[in-house]
Amino acid sequence: MTHDLAARTGLPPELLTLLADLPRDGWAEHPAFHGLTSFWLDRHMAFRHLMDRIMQETEGLADGKTDPATFPQRLVPLGRRLVDELIGHHQIEDHSYFPELLALEPRLSRGFDILDADHHALDALLDGFVTGANTLLQSDSKQADAARFHATLAPFTAQLNRHLTDEEDLILPIILKHRFG
Ligand SMILES: [Fe+2]
Ligand SMILES: [Fe+2]
Repeated sequence: MTHDLAARTGLPPELLTLLADLPRDGWAEHPAFHGLTSFWLDRHMAFRHLMDRIMQETEGLADGKTDPATFPQRLVPLGRRLVDELIGHHQIEDHSYFPELLALEPRLSRGFDILDADHHALDALLDGFVTGANTLLQSDSKQADAARFHATLAPFTAQLNRHLTDEEDLILPIILKHRFG
């Protein structure tokens, strides 16, 4: 069974046993919630929010609500933040958090392999995002070209959200159980 980011609808049940013990609706009340868990969720929320804003700005351009002349100054800071912060976030996860959390729950190693593969898939999606954004920013007919860029944002957003949710499902119960961080 494939666990490709583009194809899956969640992690397989054998990787979600800790989540069953520590379900999402109890996280905020858990004594170990404040700290790394709340920080991790906040970072993921910020990425979801950034993607929403990029989608909205692109829709505004496509719908004629945004002056094409002002679009670059709207899109560029959002796009830069998304790319820089997501790359930095993945680096911290890959080099620091994932190895330390895997050492606490080695039986979940398959889940860490899936998340690592996701990061590579998201790197390729980020490259496509940068290329698409630059093409639009350099276009002489930005409003007409906005729909094409917007169409590429939907699968990118869906896969980013899939990764963030599955990562939370795997990682946050480990942090809470071991009171890590
Ligand atoms: Fe991640
Ligand atoms: Fe993450």
